[in-house]
Amino acid sequence: MRLNPFAGVYLTDPASMWRRILDDPAGVHYAEDLGLWLISRHADVRRALADATTFANALTLAPVYQVCPEAMNVLMQLDAPPTTAAADPPVHPRTRRALRATFANTAERVEAEYGAIVRRRVDQLVSRLAARQGDRVDLIPELATELPLLVVLDILGVPDVDIARIRSWADGQIALVWGQPDPAEQVRLAQGLLDFWHYCEDLVRQRMDGGQQGDDFIGRALAYRDDDDAVLTVPEVASLAFNLLVAGHETTAGLLAHTLDQALSNPRHWSDLTAGRRAVPAFVAETLRFAPAIDGWLRVTSRDVTVGTVTIPAGARCLLLIGAANRDPAVFTHPDRFDPDRTDAGNHLSFGHGPHFCIGAGLARLEAEIVVTRLTEAIPGLRLATAQQRSYKANVAFRAHHTLLAVIDIMAPADVPATRGAATTEVAAA
Ligand code: HEM
Repeated sequence: MRLNPFAGVYLTDPASMWRRILDDPAGVHYAEDLGLWLISRHADVRRALADATTFANALTLAPVYQVCPEAMNVLMQLDAPPTTAAADPPVHPRTRRALRATFANTAERVEAEYGAIVRRRVDQLVSRLAARQGDRVDLIPELATELPLLVVLDILGVPDVDIARIRSWADGQIALVWGQPDPAEQVRLAQGLLDFWHYCEDLVRQRMDGGQQGDDFIGRALAYRDDDDAVLTVPEVASLAFNLLVAGHETTAGLLAHTLDQALSNPRHWSDLTAGRRAVPAFVAETLRFAPAIDGWLRVTSRDVTVGTVTIPAGARCLLLIGAANRDPAVFTHPDRFDPDRTDAGNHLSFGHGPHFCIGAGLARLEAEIVVTRLTEAIPGLRLATAQQRSYKANVAFRAHHTLLAVIDIMAPADVPATRGAATTEVAAA
């Protein structure tokens, strides 16, 4: 089976590739060009996510290709201890406990602790857009990538002045690990990653030197540690911040972009949302299933393991195709149809499953729901610009739009008939 995530149809219409893989009776394939085992069925992806002993996380954040020696020399200096998506037992259960204690991860805690931050930041960005009546804007830089970064900086207690370099480092990490940069670019991105890690170490060190810990994430993690390395070491606090700054940013940017794309691609959806005829949380849930921001995620096998009829050897890297699993007909009715009325959307695997289940799922949902609600209130006539070319960045894991061009119109359009029960939207390929 061939899968090229860096060129061709996968960049414009990944669902056609997921369908082909799902339709193949083997269910599991070795993609020789990538050196990755592809796992596509919902039950198999779910099992791999749940079984941290057989499907380990150790290489999840390691580049998916052979890095050039110069870049490798730089990466060897990166001594960030694994704490989240790259950690396995016995470290992961301990650091996960720390994360659960210091980062809000239930709907109630997220609303109580982060609700005001999210609303303030959404209001800032939406008001800025609403002031540009008649303009054509790109919703990706103006909203989708900006909001989650501002929110995560507020939560961590990182100053706004650092936003540009954090954005560039975080984008660089995603391109370095899951993209296909040329050797010169690998060296530049690896250096950026090292600088990013040193920046996170400094953030924590300064906070400790200042004596005042504060009530943001870094302050809470230091208080939780309580000077006890057996609970959490200082480098582990820095590593948690390092991971959250990336994990909390590009992922939610993808969710916002896909949600707005789905909402605006079909004027009836937008009209229903604007008129309050459609529940925003259900719309976001179906977007998570249909167009996940992370549609492939990595594991490495710790032993020979049989999945379906195929035996994967020990030490093999596996790409869990979350995008395909979310369209498995064994779990979802009419899986290729975007249907916000469906009742099975909650079975999606877009936030993972099991011991590494996304700690920021509640925050990401809250951000998406508030963005849709505020946009429909403040810019009800928002519409996609015509002749939209839709394509995604070349990446194994992250499904990120290049652009999403829209026209600002604060006047409510004439109503479009309701869609209940008949909603079908397919994202048009470029
Ligand atoms: C739509 C937005 C998001 C998506 C699609 C997403 C997706 C995921 C997935 C698939 C995993 C599982 C990783 C694994 O099994 O190895 C994960 C884990 C994680 N996510 Fe998210 N995420 C999102 C938002 C966020 C946000 C907003 C934050 C925090 C600010 C966050 C922080 C994390 C962390 C720290 C982990 C690792 C947890 C662990 O290993 O115990 N994510 N996320």
